[in-house]
Amino acid sequence: MFSLSFWITILLCLWIYLLWTRRKFYLLTLKFPGPFGYPIIGMAHKLLHREDVLSEFGYYIKQYGPTLFSWLGPIPFLIVSDPQLTQDILTSPHCVNKGLIYKAVDDGAGKGLFSQSDPTWSIHRKLLNPAFGHKVLLSFLPVFNSETAALLNVLKGMENEEKDFTQVLQSFTLRIATQTTMGSDVKDEECFKNNILLQRYQCVQETMTDMCFSPWLNNRILRIIFGKEESYSRAKLEIRAFIKKLIVRKLNEDSANTALPKDKNIFLNLATDLLKRGIFSWKNVEDESNVIVFGAFETTANTLYYSLMLLAMFPDYQEKAFEEIKTIFPNPGDFEVSYADTKQMIYMDMILNESMRVMSPVPLVSRQTSQDLKLSNGVTIPKGIQIALDIFHMHRSKSIWGPEAETFNPDNFLPTNLEDKHPYAYIPFTKGIRNCIGWRYALISAKVTLAKLLRNFKFTTSFPFEDLVFVEDITIKLEKAPLLKLQRRN
Ligand code: HEM
Ligand SMILES: *[C@@H]1O[C@H](CO)[C@@H](O)[C@H](O)[C@H]1NC(C)=O
Repeated sequence: MFSLSFWITILLCLWIYLLWTRRKFYLLTLKFPGPFGYPIIGMAHKLLHREDVLSEFGYYIKQYGPTLFSWLGPIPFLIVSDPQLTQDILTSPHCVNKGLIYKAVDDGAGKGLFSQSDPTWSIHRKLLNPAFGHKVLLSFLPVFNSETAALLNVLKGMENEEKDFTQVLQSFTLRIATQTTMGSDVKDEECFKNNILLQRYQCVQETMTDMCFSPWLNNRILRIIFGKEESYSRAKLEIRAFIKKLIVRKLNEDSANTALPKDKNIFLNLATDLLKRGIFSWKNVEDESNVIVFGAFETTANTLYYSLMLLAMFPDYQEKAFEEIKTIFPNPGDFEVSYADTKQMIYMDMILNESMRVMSPVPLVSRQTSQDLKLSNGVTIPKGIQIALDIFHMHRSKSIWGPEAETFNPDNFLPTNLEDKHPYAYIPFTKGIRNCIGWRYALISAKVTLAKLLRNFKFTTSFPFEDLVFVEDITIKLEKAPLLKLQRRN
């Protein structure tokens, strides 16, 4: 109907209009290098598939340096993998709000701590922090211990053959998470026993990540058209129903037994108390509960799996870890790991940290500026900029970690090798104002589990480290998960 040149003119005018209205953002191009992309769409076409996101980011960082500026459609964004700028951002009160792409998390997991914006986030975080205080964490050790004992029994039936342990580990961490945050064990729930619940969690996480990188999928109608809505909405509903059941169970227990002050700082006790005092709405309790369980179990299961996998790929380091554990726990079988014991696991600490360095469990996090922010390099980034902190590539940067940055070597965490590292060069839980609320919890529980597993089993794999292909997800995934073989130790 209209000629090609007509459409080209329209597009050009639109582009010039965008350039003009967003000139303060375009000026950033002068300060930070970066791929300009195509008019209007920017680099969006490169980032539509989550399988490509990490490799595209890696490619840009190699080409333009650790901090770069580009466009995602009409949205200006910075990719940051420089430790000092990362610190500037994570410690600024003007960068507390999560980036636009976390809209998907609101939809999938609920508007809880993870994706909530200020001022609500600051208020909720203060109210919920006590659920992760040191004393409360210590009270979780019996749960970490008894669940790991149960896990050892499950693993005894899986020896001597290469197997995928994803599901076993996720069931394990989900049981721990519900007991320590929601105050109830889920082992007898139907949806837990038949593993449907775990499948539902996986479905929600995958769809959420798709929604992050294909923003049109945030629209329900378009999800229906692309065939993503049915399984996703069912999974969300079933997870909600499950969480709700745990909350209601707690509330009923409370009314049956009014004198129950003993574990008032368990997450759900805090949340339901806030509900009774009219500070939280019912939806707040549900959303925060959903997010805390989500946040707790999947990250921990992945970290355990990847640590065991890396030790299987690097048997010398596994032997060293084994020797350390053997001196603390001379006998195999089940044993009680105390907090003091975890403090003695010096090499294990290095292994855990090194695992989360080469495979940052949460590879990318995103923020946006709510005010102009002056960075320590003198550049001011305007309000409204989207920021992707690329933890994955910062952790694997050769200029920070040396020529061997991309391989696994726990010696990276020897005190002498850390001396010259920027305090923000290693941030698996992020740092600053809005870090992971469960970071100490995660480290303690992982050490208890790894100690018992490595004391009792030797892990091997035929999958070489060099063949790992990393895939972006809220928690990092592998294109192909290596199978592990267990052999009993004495
Ligand atoms: C190895 C295990 C874990 C890793 C690597 C991890 C990593 C992270 C990271 C990187 C963030 C920041 C995300 C962002 O800025 O967008 C975060 C936030 C969060 N994590 Fe963890 N996490 C782990 C375990 C846990 C556990 C065990 C819990 C709860 C028991 C938990 C609950 C949360 C919550 C609620 C947030 C949101 C905090 C806020 O914004 O106030 N995480 N986690
Ligand atoms: C490992 O990392 C944690 C923070 O994630 C830190 O507190 C601890 O000191 C690190 N351990 C070593 C040996 O560097």
